[in-house]
Amino acid sequence: MGKYLIRGGKPLTGEVRISGAKNAALPVLAAAVATKGENIIEACPEISDVDNMISILEALGCRIARYGTSIMINASELTECRIPDELMKEMRSSVFLAGSLLARCGEAVISSPGGCNIGKRPIDIHIKGLKSLGAEIEYSGDKIYIKSGNMKGAYIRLDYPSVGATENLMLAATAAEGTTVIDNSASEPEINALQDYINMCGGRVSGAGTGRITICGRRKLTGCEYRMIPDRIEAGTFLLMCAGTEGDVCLKGVVADHIRPLIEIVRAGGSRISTWDDNLRICSTAAGRVKCSVDTAPYPGFPTDLQSQLTAFLTVKGEDCIVRENIFENRFRYAKQLIKMGADIEISQKEVIIKGNNILYGCDVEAEDLRGGAALVIAGLMAEGDTVLNNTKYIKRGYSRFREKIQKLGGEIREDGQ
Ligand code: EPZ
Repeated sequence: MGKYLIRGGKPLTGEVRISGAKNAALPVLAAAVATKGENIIEACPEISDVDNMISILEALGCRIARYGTSIMINASELTECRIPDELMKEMRSSVFLAGSLLARCGEAVISSPGGCNIGKRPIDIHIKGLKSLGAEIEYSGDKIYIKSGNMKGAYIRLDYPSVGATENLMLAATAAEGTTVIDNSASEPEINALQDYINMCGGRVSGAGTGRITICGRRKLTGCEYRMIPDRIEAGTFLLMCAGTEGDVCLKGVVADHIRPLIEIVRAGGSRISTWDDNLRICSTAAGRVKCSVDTAPYPGFPTDLQSQLTAFLTVKGEDCIVRENIFENRFRYAKQLIKMGADIEISQKEVIIKGNNILYGCDVEAEDLRGGAALVIAGLMAEGDTVLNNTKYIKRGYSRFREKIQKLGGEIREDGQ
């Protein structure tokens, strides 16, 4: 299951380049299924979620070649429209493929993506939107059979600005006759990334980032050359790691606007943060403490994917803080592990109350999900003594060369057996 052995107490210093965004790469790779021609995708993160997505694309008949962070995908000759069960269960984001398979093959069979460690993760908003386009949906066991029939452009208003549903419906709508408007759509930067990719392939999509996206249907999508946007959640994770260890680090490949709420919180604690071009320099001292009350919210609010990492940081560098989780119903599992390390926090269903000013002590802890695992790495690097973090497979789902990057910054972390 993989272990990290972490020795805390050392300030991180130096510079590290942030990888391409996991949550842009997955929908863009799924979208490639709807194209005919060669795609060259650059700056794709080397993570197991991308590995799984590539396995699915290969199972569908896509020709794939991978050179480090560059991936060639040619979906001109699909041989299959069904995602193998064992691969569908691997990760939720395979549900994005429904939209692109509908666009390409006129049908899609998906198994209702299992919930995961952070919540139930239903797909009712996806299904409701696909029905608005005229898709026919049938349930049989844990399978969902979707046929495009004669999909027509529609006005769709999402009940909630779901990222995945927005992406799925953008892709399905490329094959519908006429124009589709998706209102109350998600506005995360990854939505802009998908819009850019579809347009570079010959599509006509506009409005990403505004909450109202317009898609012109029935456009032939060819391949294109596309470079992934940087991963804002990885950038935020390293920002907290550097501030938490009172380090002096330059993060390269950062879009500061994508993590503005976090920058303001960390700055309020006395860290000096400067940004120029795609760089972010953070210089932290022992002194400052952050007093804050944070609510996770859809973009441009504070991202739920940084909630765990912020809480870990605040147990030491915060003072009387509250962090509320408003997006997922079970995203505080890591907090019990922080208490084991000496954190003074109270956990309820929706929020954690953080006393702060704690000293954390290294011990054996368990990662139970991707971002909770990253939070425990931050805690281990801030703690006194040694931490053994178990189940690093969760971290490898979404962070590319995480251990190597931390080592490059002088962090004492090694992999069991390394
Ligand atoms: C995407 O998940 C991200 N994953 C998540 O990142 C991120 O936390 C989430 O968006 C919110 O920003 C990828 O992009 C691969 P949602 P997604 O649909 O699309 C409910 C990470 O750590 N909902 O915006 O699944 C849902 O249960 C991951 O990188 C419905 O009720 O998120 C949740 O409570 C974790 N019905 C809320 O909406 C639906 O049909 C947000 O979900 C769809 C969603």
